[in-house]
Amino acid sequence: MIIEPIVQGVVARSAHPIGCRQAVLNQIDYVKNAPAIQGGPKKVLILGASSGFGLASRISLAFGGSNADTIGVSFERGPSDKGVGTAGWYNNIYFRQEAEKQGLIAKNFVGDAFSAHTRQDVLDYIQNEFGGSVDLVVYSLATGVRPNPETGELWRSSIKTVGEPVSGPTINIEMDALETMQVETASEAELDATIKVMGGEDWQSWINMLSDAGVLAQGCKTVAYSYVGPEVTYPIYHQGTLGRAKAHLHNTADTLNEQLGAIGGEAYVSVCKALVTKASVFIPAFSPYILSLFKVMKEKGTHEGCIEQMQRLFAQRLYSNFTAVPVDDARLIRIDDWELEEQTQSEVKAMMATMDNDNFQQIGDYQGYKLDFMQLNGFGFSEVDYSTPVNMQELALLTP
Ligand code: NAI
Repeated sequence: MIIEPIVQGVVARSAHPIGCRQAVLNQIDYVKNAPAIQGGPKKVLILGASSGFGLASRISLAFGGSNADTIGVSFERGPSDKGVGTAGWYNNIYFRQEAEKQGLIAKNFVGDAFSAHTRQDVLDYIQNEFGGSVDLVVYSLATGVRPNPETGELWRSSIKTVGEPVSGPTINIEMDALETMQVETASEAELDATIKVMGGEDWQSWINMLSDAGVLAQGCKTVAYSYVGPEVTYPIYHQGTLGRAKAHLHNTADTLNEQLGAIGGEAYVSVCKALVTKASVFIPAFSPYILSLFKVMKEKGTHEGCIEQMQRLFAQRLYSNFTAVPVDDARLIRIDDWELEEQTQSEVKAMMATMDNDNFQQIGDYQGYKLDFMQLNGFGFSEVDYSTPVNMQELALLTP
């Protein structure tokens, strides 16, 4: 069959398996030619490994100098009579194929990372087939819901403000339009639920479980990802529900860091750059900022995608030759340094002030934004011939 892109609003309803393969290959190619990770980890567990920063972490750690064996946990859908399946499903398959070609272990668990069942499966695998321990745990889950481990009831995150409502333009990729959107103020209950979903509680509970089972190697590190951004985005992100959840995540890193001290381990949050991922396109009123940021950073030659960010994180921060991991006053790793550079931000701010529904495609980097979005789902790669039919029967035989 010929697979066409189907986009509804900011959600992709189809994915191109061959394009997903290309995305994985391109990222592998990038890290193989980038400054290598020195003294990196060898046995890594990645929670949220199938797309965005988690997938880029996995590729960087396997192919960017560390030659790590990896376990990836993700929530994805394979092909069925309902559709071709999600991009992350194919990313898992093609990552594993490439890693195995290099003699590396690449085990995929496709299931709910919040469930006791998935945790037990991962633990059994580490104990029985992965050598008994891990030396890095990457926490890169991005989701809108988390079940309460005690009651099974769902907490749902809300992307809302804390304090005043905000209205701002947001992209509709399906319509190629900038639409005004009102972001409401969160209730206490919505704020609490967002912290439950996107804060550090689940990260903490994974580390507790692994630590209690004795599978964290001496010197084991753990890292989770966050965003801070510039002041223009504070009302919707940093000071909103997401920012509050991230503040909880940052505090969790400090607690875990103390805890892991007992085995010579360390816990960090790395603050990353704003990028187009399956999760970030949902953040209302954020797109004019990203369109302007991409335009300015590309002009300056400082633009990075997930893979460039993750290779820099592991090669130049987490496993650098510094005696200690470089962090800021709040003990955060800052690989959003180029995004927040003063001159970049002043140009971004000026560009945003002139951007409207009629000119955003000319002023901002909408082409780049849309291409990134399409490529997340395997479309828009010049190396792929999209007119060649995809053999879905053959693909259905592949498992992650
Ligand atoms: P993404 O949507 O590309 O990836 C999320 C991953 O989590 C996927 O592998 C997905 O399968 C997995 N996942 C979701 N729910 C799951 C569940 N219940 N069980 C198992 N796996 C599950 O997201 P992205 O953007 O890479 O986000 C990762 C982290 O990076 C998040 O903490 C996010 O806040 C952070 N971040 C993102 C930025 C951005 O601009 N995209 C910027 C800075 C930080």
